[in-house]
Amino acid sequence: MQTKFLWGGAISAGQTEGNSNHAKSKLSNFDMLPMDKRRLQLVYRDDDNNIFNTYNNDHHPSDLGIDFYHTYIQDIKLLHDLGINAFRFSISWTRLFPTGEETTPNRDGMNFYRGIFRELKKYNMEPIVTLSHFEIPLNLVTKYGGWSNRKVIDLFLHYTNSVMTEFSEYVDYWIPFNELNMILHIPFIGGGLIFTKEDNILQKEYQAAHYQLLANSLVIKQGRKINREFKFGCMIAAGRTYPYSPNPEDVWAANLSDRKALLFSDVQVRGNYPSYFNNLCKQNNLTLDITSDDLQLLKNNTVDFVSFSYYSSACSAADGDRLEHTATNGFETVKNPYLSNEDGVWQIDPLGLRITLNQLYERYEKPVFIVENGLGTTKDRVTNGKIHDPYRIKYLEQHFSEMRKAVEEDGIPLIGYLMWGVIDLVSVSEGKMSKRYGVIYVDLDDFENGTNKRIKKDSFFWFKNYLSLNSLGENNNEKRLSKISH
Ligand code: BG6
Repeated sequence: MQTKFLWGGAISAGQTEGNSNHAKSKLSNFDMLPMDKRRLQLVYRDDDNNIFNTYNNDHHPSDLGIDFYHTYIQDIKLLHDLGINAFRFSISWTRLFPTGEETTPNRDGMNFYRGIFRELKKYNMEPIVTLSHFEIPLNLVTKYGGWSNRKVIDLFLHYTNSVMTEFSEYVDYWIPFNELNMILHIPFIGGGLIFTKEDNILQKEYQAAHYQLLANSLVIKQGRKINREFKFGCMIAAGRTYPYSPNPEDVWAANLSDRKALLFSDVQVRGNYPSYFNNLCKQNNLTLDITSDDLQLLKNNTVDFVSFSYYSSACSAADGDRLEHTATNGFETVKNPYLSNEDGVWQIDPLGLRITLNQLYERYEKPVFIVENGLGTTKDRVTNGKIHDPYRIKYLEQHFSEMRKAVEEDGIPLIGYLMWGVIDLVSVSEGKMSKRYGVIYVDLDDFENGTNKRIKKDSFFWFKNYLSLNSLGENNNEKRLSKISH
């Protein structure tokens, strides 16, 4: 186990690996996403224009990703050159169990991931492994309705058991699910959910959410039997919701909006549904399959650390409909007049990171871990073989500064910081390469034209230099490690 602050980068399988036929024999939900706005919309079974019916004519950026399946050795070497000591990536369930129902995993797939672990070990980089990052074998979507079906839990556990057993010697930090709250915003991506016009949408989403929360607990239970040293984290798309004004009605609206994310971490960290959950079910006519055994499992198998993504804060008003809205991670929010999105696609709020770190630590008093943060922008251009990205440097500098204050002034035990999309990758919301996050540029456009060469941006050299001068968290280690034991 690393004892130093984890400075790293993060990616996911669906956005990077590529899905060439010889590398992966079956599709996942993520592979179905076209490069248009339907990516984030509800999928209706009877819609002629749904992503299943138009599959053959659509462009699917995940087909190539950034071809990480073939480039991981050079890419990890570049990350080592950057000077980071941690790397978060996800394992593709579909690569190992193409239909989700095989009894034994695909050996080529296992060997691919073993290769990644070996490279990381060679450079002494800590792996942080996401077991499900917006991905489920398509067969389980069409045959069982994705995560809306309890049967999927056992199939998932079969997969997670194989992975945790196979790679036990390499991994300390596991994140069973990426951004669980996304099931309420982008349910096809978050859980492979497909609807009919008659469906109560919230019923299906909350049912799937419960099965995922239950699966999360069962993975923790399973993992602790495999290796007592494993540490597990929840994962929510976080970012404090601010009230649009001091009007108590707006403050209440902001509270309600935050609950859509905190409900998930409440269950994963505290082991029970929060007090308002019963009423939420009543108000929305939800009759959920939640047994007393389920509740016991949630109670007994909680996470060790609170991991989250942070891109921006959100904003809510009681009568938000009359106000201007803007896109943020997975949903729309009221535009905050104090924030700008001049440099990025989403609004930028560095202080919001400190606010969110405090919010989560005050609520849970468990070590926290920023496992995604970064600037997604369409501004990057190659000029004479270089990418000058001062906006990204500014973004990182400001966020690091707020993070440092949260640790040094607020006393928050922070395990680490992982920069999202440290190598450019296909964006989830847009399905495009041109929304870029990385300090490493990938020479591919939205239609996969290009050399696929990697180029270090100016921000790469800035980040590298920052890491050589800053050792945030060294003094914090003892506290962090004593708190993390379960
Ligand atoms: C998070 C996801 O929601 O946000 C990532 O975990 C995603 O997979 C990231 O890439 C940024 O969102 P986007 O839409 O810009 O790719």
